Amino acid sequence: MPDRLKGKVAVVTGGASGFGKAIATTFQSEGASVVITDLSEDTGTAVAKEIGATFVRADVTKRDEWEKVLKQTLDAYGKLDLVINNAGTTYANKVSPNGAAKALVASPCAD
Ligand SMILES: NC(=O)c1ccc[n+]([C@@H]2O[C@H](COP(=O)([O-])OP(=O)(O)OC[C@H]3O[C@@H](n4cnc5c(N)ncnc54)[C@H](O)[C@@H]3O)[C@@H](O)[C@H]2O)c1
Repeated sequence: MPDRLKGKVAVVTGGASGFGKAIATTFQSEGASVVITDLSEDTGTAVAKEIGATFVRADVTKRDEWEKVLKQTLDAYGKLDLVINNAGTTYANKVSPNGAAKALVASPCAD
């Protein structure tokens, strides 16, 4: 069902991969103008190019970077309708004290 977001402007944080990339791709295909933000400049730029979105490198933990995202979004599209604040770290990606990534897929209940 295309165009359910026609005319809407959306910011998707952490849009360079995972859920954020999927949300950004879906919103774009539904007619929204999407601004992807992420820590990763290379991946974020590539995803934005792939789906026709705009990329702004920004860290969601920094207020001045949110202000940059808002300014660039308003400069480009004149408004902001939706913010999907998805950026974050999954538990499976956390590094254990000895430096090894936790293998939760193999043992979902292990600490
Ligand atoms: N995958 C899961 O099972 C799961 C479960 C519950 C909640 N979540 C949450 O969903 C969100 C997305 O998870 P995912 O599995 O797609 O992860 P992912 O690692 O694939 O994607 C997260 C993206 O966020 C970006 N990011 C991380 N910190 C950032 C920061 N400070 N500023 C800007 N960008 C930042 C990363 O660069 C990455 O591109 C996370 O907030 C995560 O905590 C995930």
